[in-house]
Formats: sequence, C-alpha cells, structure tokens
Amino acid sequence: MSKNFLKQIFRTKHIATKHDSGLKKCLTAIDLTLLGVGAIIGTGIFVLTGIAAANQAGPAVVLSFIISGTACAFAALAYAELAAAVGGCGSAYGYSYVAFGEIVAWIIGWILLLEYSVSVAAVANGWSGYFNHALTAIGLDLPAALTKSPELGGIVNLPATGIILLLMVMLIKGAKQSAQLNTAMVFIKLLAIIVFITLASFNVNTSNWHPFMPYGWFSTLPDGKTVGVLAGASLVFFAYVGFDAVSTAVEEAKNPQRDVPIGIIASLGFCTLIYILVAGLLTGIVPYTSLGVDHPVAFALKAIGYNWASALVSAGVIAGLTTVMLVLYYGLTRIILAMSRDGLITPYLSFVNPKTQTPIRVIVITGIIMATAAGLVPLSALAELVNIGTLAAFVLVCLGVIVLRAKHPELSRPFKTPFSPLFPILGMLSCGSLMMFLPQQTWTRFILWLGLGLIIYFAYSIKHSKLTKQ
Ligand code: ALA
Repeated sequence: MSKNFLKQIFRTKHIATKHDSGLKKCLTAIDLTLLGVGAIIGTGIFVLTGIAAANQAGPAVVLSFIISGTACAFAALAYAELAAAVGGCGSAYGYSYVAFGEIVAWIIGWILLLEYSVSVAAVANGWSGYFNHALTAIGLDLPAALTKSPELGGIVNLPATGIILLLMVMLIKGAKQSAQLNTAMVFIKLLAIIVFITLASFNVNTSNWHPFMPYGWFSTLPDGKTVGVLAGASLVFFAYVGFDAVSTAVEEAKNPQRDVPIGIIASLGFCTLIYILVAGLLTGIVPYTSLGVDHPVAFALKAIGYNWASALVSAGVIAGLTTVMLVLYYGLTRIILAMSRDGLITPYLSFVNPKTQTPIRVIVITGIIMATAAGLVPLSALAELVNIGTLAAFVLVCLGVIVLRAKHPELSRPFKTPFSPLFPILGMLSCGSLMMFLPQQTWTRFILWLGLGLIIYFAYSIKHSKLTKQ
C-alpha cells in the first residue's frame, strides 16, 4: 500500500466550525434526557430480561444488568466528553472522523446505520405482537395473514409496517413535535414500570432467588449457544442501546455543550436503576424458569393474580416500544445526514426542507426501507447483531477520548471524562469483553456487514468525500 493511499483513507476532518445546519434548535436538557429514556427502555427490559433469566443467567440476570450497565457508563462518559467537545449530529461517526480518520469514521457510521435501522425494524415486530394482543383483548382481530411476515406463514406484518410509516410522518413534522409525543409516551411507560415495581415489591418470594446463578458465569453449549451471567450481559446489553442517540441531537439542542452530557448521563443512570429493580423483582415474584415468554413482565403480573395490571403494563409496553422506535429512527436520519454532508453518502439525502426544518428525503427513504423490512422479515433474532455493532462503536468512542486528548489538547472540553485514561480504557475492555461473549454466528454476520461497507467505501465514498474535493 502506498503512503499516499494510506494518507488518503486516514485523512481527518477538522473540528467542525459551528455552521448553520438549518435544523431548528429547540431541545432542552429535559427533552434530551427524556429522549434518552425514550430510546433506552423498551424490548430489552420488557422482553429480553425474561429470556436472559430463563435461558442464560437465572435470577443473577440482575448481575448481567449491572455488568452491562457499568460498561455503558464508561462509554457514556466518553460520549459526553466528545459530544460536548466535538459536537455534530453524526455521533460516534463524527468523533471518529476527527480522531482516527475517514475510513474508521466510515466503518463506525456504517455500523451505526446497522444499529439504528435493525433496532427500529426489530422493535416494530415486537410492537406488532403486543398491539395484536391488545386488539384481540378488545375483540378486534386482524386477519392472521396480515400480522406475520411471509417466513412465518403470513403475507405482511401490517401493524409493524404501519407504525413505522406513522412515525415517519411525525418526524417530518419536526423534532419538537416528535419530542412532545415522546415525552407523553415516556410517562406512560414509566407509569407502567412504577405499577409493576409497586405491586411486585409486595409479592416477592425469596425462594425464587435460589439457585441464584444456575448457569454459572459463562460457558458454550454443544449447539453453539452461550449461557451464564456474562452471556446474559451481552444479550441484555440491548436494553441500554439508545443512550447514544442523545448525541445525535446536538444540532437541535439549545445549549448542546451543557445539555447533551446531562441528557446522556442522566438517562443512562436512571434506566440502569430501573433495570436492576425490575430484573430483581421479576425473578423474585415467579420462578425464573417460567420467564422465557415474549411478554414476561405482563405474564408475571398475571401469574401473581393482577390481571388489570397485566393489561396496563401491556399498554405501557406499546407506548414504550413506540418511543424506542421514534428516537432510534430520529438518530438514524441525523447520522445519514452527517455522512451525506461529508460526501460519503449521496448529497441528495442532505436536503433539509426549509418549511418543516427537517431532512424530509432521508426520513421518507429510510422510513420506507424499514417499514418494508419490518413487514416482510422477522427480525427478532437480530438483537445480538445490533449489540455487536453498538459495542464496537463504544470501544472506538472510548479510544477516541484518549486519542483526541493527545492530538488536540487545546480543544475546549466543557465536560471531561473523569479518571482519563483509566475510565476510557476500562470502557474499551468491558465493551470489548461483552463482544467476546456473543455467539460465533453473530460475529460472522457482523463481519459480512463490515465487508459490504468497505466495498461501498472504496467504490463510492472515497472519491466523493468532501475532503477529496478540498
Ligand atoms: N434499548 C432499546 C430497547 O431495549 C433498544 O428496546
């Protein structure tokens, strides 16, 4: 490889001088924290806790949450520092462009596209399950063929497609309106969680916590599946995915350098506490072996005799999953916008409609792709694929703090990661280890996705990059 070629693919961007993106600056610290909570609490706690408890960790799923949450805390501090110092709506993509150079930035951007889009489509499938369940409860049934993807014997999963198209319209209307809808639904899902925590606290049977760690720390079964507290941690990590989405809202924040770190750290801290409580109580009120169902929280409430609460929690889940999709969809469009403005993706996508002040083209195109995928592909198995990509991004964000402090010590850092470089190094080690506990198959899929990304980079992005033109 020639020196020039290496120089080209590792060229870095200067720290963005503040430019007017055309996006409306309207989000406060509270909006941003709620945006984080909106993205974080969802399928992970409402569905995967039960699966991880039943199949991987037993009651020690609480430890899985603490381990994952700790890894995320290190990454969150790193995100907060970079969001305040570097800014830009491209999140980890933008920081890598400044710290490591174009090709690493492209890879991270490409991984984030996977993280956000697959999450939205997967959560839409989960949403559809609860929605159909609720319709049946009030005596309205959609024809079965319209509730399942072809692979599962249906024609299309209409509710999954429909909810994404509805969110598409919301996002076109504007960030403030979307944030308002988000706020209302975040409160509904928190109410559902409070109801669960209150009722469950009075119904714990401590014998359910024994044996506490039935599957040990970690082992691989003959069929390739992984079990143990650490395998559980790498699965329930999905529950934390989304706090990074707060950093994609930098350009729409009123006071980004102060409020974005607050939004990231407050939302992650709050959700971690909720997860530890919910996971502990869930395994305390029913035997962990019974939790391997697709609606474990509602199921457990029903099992201890609270039918009304079970229905209420289901409604909360529907609202909760809607907010997860809304925020991740929003984050996806902002990352594409950043990549498109840099020339790595076609500039056609970076058009911001002056009337609505939203990037309409990106919203519509990604909405149609995700709505189609959600309607036609059963995506639930892809949570681990989302996790591996997100963890890889977290490792690089932690490394980015160390690299940028060395390369640009002069940069103003309104928020600083404490105990650097110790905390960023611990973040890299903990997130890297969680990646190791994921199954082989997930690694294969991830490597294929990266390969496709590199082909696109060398076929298109390298030539059209704004840095080439400069
Ligand atoms: N953290 C989000 C969820 O659990 C992605 O649904």
